[in-house]
Amino acid sequence: MSDTVNAINLKHEEAKNKANQEINRRKDTIKKSRYRLHYHFMAPVGWINDPNGLVQYKGEYHLFYQFYPYDAKWGPMHWGHAKSTDFVHWEHLPVALAPSEDYDSGEVTGYGCFSGSGVVYGEELVLIYTGHVDNKEPMQVQCIATSKNGIQFEKYPQNPVIDVYPEDGSADFRDPKVWSHDGKWFMVVGSHKNGKGKALLYVSNNLKDWAYVGVAAESDGTQGDMWECPDLFPLQDYHVLLVSPMYGKQNEKPFYVIGDMDYEKGVFTQQLARTLDYGYDFYAPQTFEDDKGRRIMIGWMEKWLAKMPSQEHGWAGAMTIPRELILEGSTIVKQKPVTELENLRTNEKHYDSLVVENEWMVNDMDVSTEVMINFDLHETTASLFGIQLRCSADGNERTDIILDAARQEIILDRNKAGVGEKGISKAPFTINDDGTVQIRIFMDTTSLEVFVNDGEQVITNRIFPDEGSKLFKLFSKDGKVCVSRMSSWSLNTVRE
Ligand code: FRU
Repeated sequence: MSDTVNAINLKHEEAKNKANQEINRRKDTIKKSRYRLHYHFMAPVGWINDPNGLVQYKGEYHLFYQFYPYDAKWGPMHWGHAKSTDFVHWEHLPVALAPSEDYDSGEVTGYGCFSGSGVVYGEELVLIYTGHVDNKEPMQVQCIATSKNGIQFEKYPQNPVIDVYPEDGSADFRDPKVWSHDGKWFMVVGSHKNGKGKALLYVSNNLKDWAYVGVAAESDGTQGDMWECPDLFPLQDYHVLLVSPMYGKQNEKPFYVIGDMDYEKGVFTQQLARTLDYGYDFYAPQTFEDDKGRRIMIGWMEKWLAKMPSQEHGWAGAMTIPRELILEGSTIVKQKPVTELENLRTNEKHYDSLVVENEWMVNDMDVSTEVMINFDLHETTASLFGIQLRCSADGNERTDIILDAARQEIILDRNKAGVGEKGISKAPFTINDDGTVQIRIFMDTTSLEVFVNDGEQVITNRIFPDEGSKLFKLFSKDGKVCVSRMSSWSLNTVRE
């Protein structure tokens, strides 16, 4: 090893060790927090945001994430790391990346190893990330780090591998997503110019030397003035682009676009953009393909600048459940919770042909439960109907999921849901040919993910109700609602 390699990686090792010690020092205290989720991925301590580097390496799934171990708020970014063989049980691993070099650290407030991706190259697991230093010129550059065992990562001595943004972009130039196609590596990087968010395309033969190709896709003028975390990947006969857009300083709901990728020209032709998730707490999703050919997506289940009650307990942020993306025709991407989650099921209950007028109540449903409900709209006369969950006995605390059949709209109302953020999320839904609408809910201690009609639409929100608020009700207004079948399963706790 040359002296430069040693010097770089000595500093890096020191920074990682310090972070690992901090995790060990605090992790037992954090476990006691009543807001900890039962089966969603969380960091052992501190703050997490975007999922990074999703990849399958030597048969195991690796999840990296934006991580600040020293506090429950955003700070100099590290890459936390965990692995799993089933998407349910995650083993925490040592911090993979810590800020240590002039391109990812400094005497400023904002710096670190920003979001990026992971790929398998020969025997190695390679991470491609953005080095960020506030006020530096250029502020954001692309870097790589490699590992021979999938645990210890060394920064490449010749970093950065892309040391300046191209003419089509600007100083905001981050979140490289890398994939291989026809024996070459391709990368999209999020950026903007002249008020339009952009995904900039690069190509390489070795992950080290990158050539700029051009703008693969950009905002049509209404889709954000900065694109974060672009992800471009093949799905069946098409390509799909995911974007987490910013409007000024505001982050908005990620969207997806189905289209065709012309690798010769380096251009992705865009069709209609659709919202990926109508909830408040879903951002910076990333995908990867596993060895079963599934395209799996995980998102950050939290929102920038939101009130996060768990911060009082020394931690913040979690990941959504992993969702398989499935293309329906050429217009809709459905999100299907990975089937492995069914292994968490216990205490199964079924109810057939329920007819509810006003209210029907299940006493105390577990706080981590999966519920599947088929509403039969042919037989339903109510104008509004739906579900109330995490209700207190006096009814003052609750979260409502309301279906408005006339408007074909589903509404998730968390205004009375407890101590977290309030607000109403709305998503459109379609009525199936047989007159049914299917709702599948994943409840955890402080989260809700609602999948409509096999994941045609999804709403993800954090809620922070009292532990004792456990009642589950079906309700109808001005008429009856018919449920052809309702099933529920308690979901096992898998966190440490
Ligand atoms: C998205 C994001 C990315 C950036 C990272 C920093 O949530 O802003 O664009 O790389 O978070 O933590």
